[in-house]
Amino acid sequence: MIDSNRVLIFDTTLRDGEQSPGATMTHAEKLEIASMLDEMGVDIIEAGFPIASEGDFKAVSEIARQSRNAVICGLARANPKDIDRCWEAVKNARMPRIHTFIGTSPTHRAMHALSMDEMAERVHDSVTRARNLCDNVQWSSMDATRTEWEFLRRTVEIAIKAGATTVNIPDTVGYTAPVESADLIRRLIAEVPGADEVVFATHCHNDLGMATANSLAAVEGGARQIECTINGLGERAGNTALEEVVMALKVRHDIMPWSTNVDTTRIMNISRRVATVSGFPVQFNKAIVGKNAFAHESGIHQDGMLKNAETFEIMRPADVGLSETSLVMGKHSGRAALRAKLRDLGHDLAENQLNDVFVRFKDLADRKKEVYDEDLVALVHQNDGAE
Ligand code: KIV
Ligand code: ZN
Repeated sequence: MIDSNRVLIFDTTLRDGEQSPGATMTHAEKLEIASMLDEMGVDIIEAGFPIASEGDFKAVSEIARQSRNAVICGLARANPKDIDRCWEAVKNARMPRIHTFIGTSPTHRAMHALSMDEMAERVHDSVTRARNLCDNVQWSSMDATRTEWEFLRRTVEIAIKAGATTVNIPDTVGYTAPVESADLIRRLIAEVPGADEVVFATHCHNDLGMATANSLAAVEGGARQIECTINGLGERAGNTALEEVVMALKVRHDIMPWSTNVDTTRIMNISRRVATVSGFPVQFNKAIVGKNAFAHESGIHQDGMLKNAETFEIMRPADVGLSETSLVMGKHSGRAALRAKLRDLGHDLAENQLNDVFVRFKDLADRKKEVYDEDLVALVHQNDGAE
């Protein structure tokens, strides 16, 4: 049992993240990302889907051998071949986990051509097989948020009785909403026998842009494992972003009193690395890790920031591993920011010189989206070289 104030961070960048069309990583890149995740304090790393390919099997096996701190998990469908292959890949980890899943909603049952009773039996058999191999077994009811309540309750109970130690309730298609997400976990914990003996997990997709909110709501309802990816990488609109849930729990600890083990100062570094190796650039205004997340352009904001950073920033850039806030010089910037920027560049101008440069700066900024440091220096030198 984990401390009830702790939320486990389960990173699936290398499995669900890599499933994004076009996001495949090389073997060496996967090992590198796994080792960064291990060092930053992620609790569980889902390293891949061992049955999917020889390459995935090798990557999961090697990550299992190299891991020093985290539980290493592999994914397996609810059949003996997948589960045995998964165990082969993770068994050399210091702390291995088998993660087996089946889609429980009506659409998934139809796809498998299984009745409710047949599917319930598959849940029992798959979890039992995994548990005979490994002490640490996670069971996921894929598309849980579109599964009939009574059937979800029944399969969760079967999985727990068969030995699952973590039960994951995925919002596979990003369909749920925060109130529902919290209620679903709360009800399962209240109504399923044995629920207090296992960890409940939340795994959200971002189709409606609610993955972070839904994950945090699930924690409110009693989940103690959040499944997420760096930069929110993942199929379609992606998964819950690790950096968002971790920073939300840190910054709003006053109203969400749960902690993670993640060293947040490593966030920026891994975000950039995942963007590079996956080939998925981070959108400029992405929360926490976007290029503009700590950048200010408007005069009022820049002036406020120069006087007191808390005016427009709720986190310090250093908390996510950035050295400083960036004041972007553009047409909305004011005199105070220009003076500060020029001082940083080694030009401490007298008031009348600053006024001249400011006029030329505004003129240039009207023609150019962003005025770079070199542009500013050139503007100073147009000032007859006088300083
Ligand atoms: O989204 C999902 O349901 C999944 C499962 C395999 C856990 O990724
Ligand atoms: Zn998923």
